[in-house]
Amino acid sequence: MRTHKIAAIPADGIGPEVIAAGLQALEALQQRSGDFSLSVQEFDWGSDYYKKHGRMMPEDGIQQLKPFDAIFFGAVGAPDVPDHITLWGLRLPICQGFDQYANVRPTRILPGIASPLAGVGPGDLDWVIVRENSEGEYSGHGGRAHRGLPEEVGTEVAIFTRVGVTRIMRYAFRLAQSRPRKLLTVVTKSNAQRHGMVMWDEIAAEVAAEFPDVTWDKMLVDAMTVRMTLKPQSLDTIVATNLHADILSDLAGALAGSLGVAPTANIDPERRYPSMFEPIHGSAFDITGKGIANPVATFWTAAQMLDHLGEASAATRLMRAVEAVTADGVLTPDVGGRATTEEVTRAVCEAIRGSN
Ligand code: NAI
Ligand code: MG
Repeated sequence: MRTHKIAAIPADGIGPEVIAAGLQALEALQQRSGDFSLSVQEFDWGSDYYKKHGRMMPEDGIQQLKPFDAIFFGAVGAPDVPDHITLWGLRLPICQGFDQYANVRPTRILPGIASPLAGVGPGDLDWVIVRENSEGEYSGHGGRAHRGLPEEVGTEVAIFTRVGVTRIMRYAFRLAQSRPRKLLTVVTKSNAQRHGMVMWDEIAAEVAAEFPDVTWDKMLVDAMTVRMTLKPQSLDTIVATNLHADILSDLAGALAGSLGVAPTANIDPERRYPSMFEPIHGSAFDITGKGIANPVATFWTAAQMLDHLGEASAATRLMRAVEAVTADGVLTPDVGGRATTEEVTRAVCEAIRGSN
């Protein structure tokens, strides 16, 4: 029996609701498969912990997580704690401390879920966005001077390194190569950003030479929004900088129906450290405690986690169960249904138990 050690961090808002749902589905999968088991340890870190201890997680939090095979994360953010404290106090230190430089965001239209794009259904939109997760505008480089004076200045320096760009390009080309269409679109803005983005383009071309069987093209980020909207069928795997992919993947989530179905994986491809799996959405204060959070994004990221752990058949079984349930119209209100989190979860667990 293969055993994987999972650290679950439900954290804030609807995080605990969707992580509980995800753990139920994972439990059903272990029972159905019978050849692997997950040993799950829960951590009570987050905004409530912060209110008691003045920190989002203990000082040695990263050390505590290190022995795990994967991290299953809910969401952080509370109405009465500033967002930069919650984000920089828990989620970002994990991403950065474990050098999870590849952020992988699959998007497709699930059966039974309507895209806002007219005439676009399942099969017309099947993408994976690879977001560079360690550099760009989000590396924390910059500062402010002459605060409060008329001549005050603020800078947010975009960092691009040869090491950082090369490794994300290799990851993206390899991922594109593993998908049936072997098609990669490199998003850029090298017409206006003539230093870092020109280097980005050059490195893309260098790495492309290592993958002669992958067809690739280049799109300026502004034109990319048009192509995603008007010709979703023309795209497959997409790689973009931290900032560009942040924006494009929200668009992708919306085009696929809802933020409530969009998953993400923060991967250390070299497997030196645990990778982290989470729904893209935040803690959703407006629906916290109402029992109607969509658990599908969390199921999907659980499938990404299983894939990463080498449990590909369990991952496939989970996604088939989710698709059977969405096709059946068992949907939460954000995707036009009337089901509760619990009803969707029960239906998915039943579909897992009944699967062959
Ligand atoms: P949000 O993702 O929490 O919510 C945006 C909208 O989408 C809300 O109307 C919400 O009800 C809806 N929504 C989100 N997830 C849903 C789900 N599973 N089912 C049904 N509806 C869902 O983003 P918002 O409101 O901008 O941020 C709320 C808090 O979450 C903030 O403190 C923010 O900093 C934090 N946040 C944390 C993230 C993380 O932990 N990775 C990511 C995004 C935001
Ligand atoms: Mg975002």
